[in-house]
Amino acid sequence: MTHDPFPQGTPPHPLGTPLVRREGREKVTGTARYAAEHTPPDCAYAWPVPATVARGRIIAIDTTEALALPGVCAVLTHENAPRLGSAGDPILEVLQDDHVPHRGWYVALVVADGLEAAREAAGAVRVTYEAADHDVRFSAGHPGRYLPGTVNGGFPAIRERGNFEAAFAAALITLDATYTMPPLHNHPMEPHAATAHWDGGRLTVHDSSQGSTKVRDDLAALFKIGKDEITVISEHVGGGFGAKGTPRPQAVLAAMAARHTGRPVKLALPRSQMAAIVGHRAPTVQRVRIGATTGGFITALAHEITTYTSTVTEFVEQAAVPARVMYGAPHSRTTHHVTTLDVPTPSWMRAPGEAPGMYALESAVDELAVLLDIDPVELRVHNEPDADPDSGRPFSSRHLVACLREGANRFGWLPRDPRPAVRREGDLLLGTGVAASTYPVFSGGSVAEAHAGADGGWRIRVNATDIGTGARTVLAQIAAAALGLSSEEQVRIEIGSSDLPPAMLAGSSAGTGSWGRAVHQACTGLAARLREHTGPLPADGVTVTADTRREAAEESPYARHSFGAQFAEVQVDTLTGEIRVCRLLGMFAAGHILNPRTARSQFIGGMTMGMGMALTEGSGLDAAFGDFAERDLATYHVPACADVPAIEAHWLDERDPHLNPMGSKGIGEIGIVGTAAALANAVHHAIGIRLRDLPLTPDKVL
Ligand code: MOS
Repeated sequence: MTHDPFPQGTPPHPLGTPLVRREGREKVTGTARYAAEHTPPDCAYAWPVPATVARGRIIAIDTTEALALPGVCAVLTHENAPRLGSAGDPILEVLQDDHVPHRGWYVALVVADGLEAAREAAGAVRVTYEAADHDVRFSAGHPGRYLPGTVNGGFPAIRERGNFEAAFAAALITLDATYTMPPLHNHPMEPHAATAHWDGGRLTVHDSSQGSTKVRDDLAALFKIGKDEITVISEHVGGGFGAKGTPRPQAVLAAMAARHTGRPVKLALPRSQMAAIVGHRAPTVQRVRIGATTGGFITALAHEITTYTSTVTEFVEQAAVPARVMYGAPHSRTTHHVTTLDVPTPSWMRAPGEAPGMYALESAVDELAVLLDIDPVELRVHNEPDADPDSGRPFSSRHLVACLREGANRFGWLPRDPRPAVRREGDLLLGTGVAASTYPVFSGGSVAEAHAGADGGWRIRVNATDIGTGARTVLAQIAAAALGLSSEEQVRIEIGSSDLPPAMLAGSSAGTGSWGRAVHQACTGLAARLREHTGPLPADGVTVTADTRREAAEESPYARHSFGAQFAEVQVDTLTGEIRVCRLLGMFAAGHILNPRTARSQFIGGMTMGMGMALTEGSGLDAAFGDFAERDLATYHVPACADVPAIEAHWLDERDPHLNPMGSKGIGEIGIVGTAAALANAVHHAIGIRLRDLPLTPDKVL
């Protein structure tokens, strides 16, 4: 960044103001404390022992040597660990039996006085396995593949509209292309961590989570105690990208170890173990077929996904779902095939479905534009539907065309020579590319409490989570706007604890909209109560609670989605095969942007993650060992500052009355969507070769 996009002057109304985040100073000075930074008196440290076979059974665990090491207080295994109930998620039922479903699955947990002692002892636990044959080899032609009923998000696995085969056979212009991408890891900056302690029958856990209400509920089910006997705190969270969206084993293991030893226990997952334990984006093979008229009208569209899931639980990356809403093809087929393999369980990763699916779809649309010799912006404009092609419902707002046009303008898209491999500067070839992006607007029920104090202060309580987005700041803005205050400064925000009113997790790009709806409702209710009130407030002030759980579950008569367009310029070194991103520009239509400063960070953060997906990020399972080969940040390459060029994020002033009282859509995920396709399309424009396998590393370019 070379300039501050918000130099001076702010609108008087707190909504739409680029306020700096409230906890910014605490974060940069290190006083903001994360889950592993709480150290209750007499705290012990835990280190897990992962399975070293890819499938099988534990025959014996010898803990003698580990227990004899200085400072070691316990080794938990399936033989002595507390028996758990069920929270409906087998991933959380750790150390309960001798079964090993995949390599890296935890088979023991060492607890010691210090971290180093725990780590050393973990290496001294002797586990004997009966190994079984395993299969982690993923391919579209795997004989074990099947069609699930539904995919992640509850969407049907198959949708058919019209007659795809007939329309495709009759089309004058046809495209049939297959795109592939490897497993991807979420790798948030802060690894998963939990610090747990029991006080009699009461459990307190500091957990790195995107939503501590669900962690609390699941721990209650697992430990068979009341929800009111557990407090889960997620005060500051260093990113999650979906990997902390559902409760993860660290919270369960820390609580088990604390119960077993009678001491507080801290567990921070080593980065190298995260790949197998905290979920990942499953690889996909995506076949896209498009039939079109010579004028560029898409008549037939098929998007067929093959992916994998684990034997532990089913998670199906819903990559064909965005193709259902993007273009008005009268004949369409979208399907998902899944193979069950002996792999770690895939899970949510930023824009599950949309990120991989739009990579393939938007690459295919670019290929069609080249075939037809139509500008890719115009081809998309041609195929803009009047209503959601999938549900038939009207869009609450859809400004994709405006994003394409305005983005093209700002980027300087035209004049563009559409011929590939003609812009040469010495050994470099340059190219530009475009892709569309979309993400659905979800809404989750939340309860929020608004309080007016007798001293004139205001307080909001809601169990929102700040995963780095600036949730406290935007909630204060929403509250101040609803209360009719000119400044949000006097509004205290309490979030990040399951003792607060229950709320939606920070996920599905729906945190701010969901919490905000409840906060807005509580605050307007409070303002109304205060208008009726005469005289001084009672000593304990006035409190109003709002519960949106019923209304958030109601179906909207509208199809609600964010849209955007990404533009990229790349240079490809013809000698080394290295691709460098020169410019990246995103133009978004995502409802009312409530805080331009923190929103911009989320947009460019998502776009940076899309750059990684396009160019450097990729993981692979070693067929013999059944393990991910890339398990740290040295081998799994996320973009570093030097890789990130001038990134711009802009947005339209979109007003949509069919969302929530703030008029906001989600912004956490749409930034990653479309970025990989825009870059891959720019690479094709630069070199004239279509690479359909991510990431676009130099070996593929040469
Ligand atoms: Mo996001 S993958 O819904 O945390």
